Amino acid sequence: MAFSSQHLLLLLLLFPLILFQSLASAATCSNCFTQSRAVYYPNSDKEGTENGACGYGSFGATLNGGDVSAASNLYRNGVGCGACYQVRCTNSNYCSTDGVTIVITDSGASDGADFILSQHAFAKMGQTADAGASLLALGVVGIEYRRVSCSYPNKNITFKIDGSSNFPYYLAFEIWYQQGNQDITAVQLCETVNLTCKLLERSHGAVWAVVSPPTGPLSIRMLLSGGDDADETWMVPTNNIPQNWTAGAIYDSGVQAE
Ligand SMILES: *[C@@H]1O[C@H](CO)[C@@H](O)[C@H](O)[C@H]1NC(C)=O
Ligand SMILES: *[C@@H]1O[C@H](CO)[C@@H](O)[C@H](O)[C@H]1NC(C)=O
Ligand SMILES: *[C@@H]1O[C@H](CO)[C@@H](O)[C@H](O)[C@H]1NC(C)=O
Repeated sequence: MAFSSQHLLLLLLLFPLILFQSLASAATCSNCFTQSRAVYYPNSDKEGTENGACGYGSFGATLNGGDVSAASNLYRNGVGCGACYQVRCTNSNYCSTDGVTIVITDSGASDGADFILSQHAFAKMGQTADAGASLLALGVVGIEYRRVSCSYPNKNITFKIDGSSNFPYYLAFEIWYQQGNQDITAVQLCETVNLTCKLLERSHGAVWAVVSPPTGPLSIRMLLSGGDDADETWMVPTNNIPQNWTAGAIYDSGVQAE
């Protein structure tokens, strides 16, 4: 009796230590790969998709050379839109060690798979074009993945005024070409005369929207969170959205994330 209660006491003393150690190893393992499965879009469209839940439209079909993916859990109600992942399959007969780097443009779930890749991206995990064709024939493959930084050389963060916008009553926009491995978790719209700012709602996917936006030139500020940098930072663009903004227009923010 005394023996077992001693054991219990030992366990109770050790438990926080064990918990702490596993938290610490999780924290130092941001670069580790996670095991999962991947499938690909069934349609014949070999590039990305224009119809992704992120709302990128035709831009989504060309983004990252068509190496894009739908995500299930990693979609995170749209926060995951635009995040980049290295995805490599694990069948050593066919798969390259680097795999493919994809951008999330859509939401989707399929039979325990974290990613529904474009066919372009799926085939790119192969060592050769023939191996890529063999992977496509398999349909579903074991993979491992990790979050990586997105890289858009010679691009600033860019605001695309969504086609659903209606000047001056309703402003919706997407944020393109954000580098790095942080998430945009909040967006403020500031009028530039009195500098009053309004927190926006995420409409869906990568689309932020506001009814009755302020008049005058507008500054769109983005809160970057997570990633390697534990701090949250508000990114303030150099360039404003002009006061006569139009649906479909594309405006360069003049800034880029690390
Ligand atoms: C700025 O504030 C002044 C004084 O309160 C107000 O009259 C004006 O309309 C405001 N301008 C904008 C663009 O909100
Ligand atoms: C917006 O305003 C600027 C300068 O005020 C002008 O040069 C530009 O043509 C206008 N754009 C549209 C679409 O009206
Ligand atoms: C990005 O912004 C900087 C500073 O505002 C500007 O000088 C540069 O031309 C922009 N880059 C591109 C590719 O538009």
